[in-house]
Amino acid sequence: MNMFSVIAPFYDVMLSKLQQRQTGTLIDRLPDLHGKTILDLGGGTGKLAAALSTEGADVYLLDASKQMLKRAQRVLPGNRIFLGDAARLPFANDMFDVALIVDAIHHMPAQHEVITETRRVLRPGGLLYILDFSVNSSYIRVLQRLERLAGEPSVFFAPDTLAELLATSGLEQVNIEMLSQHEFLARAMKPVN
Ligand SMILES: C[S@@+](CC[C@H](N)C(=O)[O-])C[C@H]1O[C@@H](n2cnc3c(N)ncnc32)[C@H](O)[C@@H]1O
Repeated sequence: MNMFSVIAPFYDVMLSKLQQRQTGTLIDRLPDLHGKTILDLGGGTGKLAAALSTEGADVYLLDASKQMLKRAQRVLPGNRIFLGDAARLPFANDMFDVALIVDAIHHMPAQHEVITETRRVLRPGGLLYILDFSVNSSYIRVLQRLERLAGEPSVFFAPDTLAELLATSGLEQVNIEMLSQHEFLARAMKPVN
């Protein structure tokens, strides 16, 4: 049984402060969301997706945990919730204006495939945002050990390593913003041509 199947009922209570802060960080930095089609990968219980939907975006959420998605169904209206692996997306090419991976890529075993799949489904000029914690922080290296003890594949990136992976995966205008000494936001664009 995976960690998120166990913690799904308590997830929002345990992490509500972090979710609120990360949602605020993204809403402050995302382009105008009205009428935009957004993909939230590893979107979990749907708190961020619901907030973006309130801002006028058309939000699709995909996650690998049925139990997390059960919660998402309560807060995200419509039927845009998908159970699946972010490394094999059930979406057409060039479909999304924005893709988000928040506190999730370090849980995904096939990180390179996740990036190339996300690039495929972004429209030319579409933006990918990855918000996560940095392995350069000693606190995060302890967290990585704890998550692995709980059975997660957890591999946290160093910001520079993720930037290089985004660039070698065919994304451009790669930018890293350090949000604190532990947490960073990576942004990259799918080339227009
Ligand atoms: C720490 S939670 C973050 C949830 C949400 N993004 C948030 O910020 O509240 C990580 C999520 O990634 C999901 N996940 C892990 N591996 C995945 C994969 N290969 N494909 C899709 N989702 C995955 C987990 O099921 C879990 O819901």
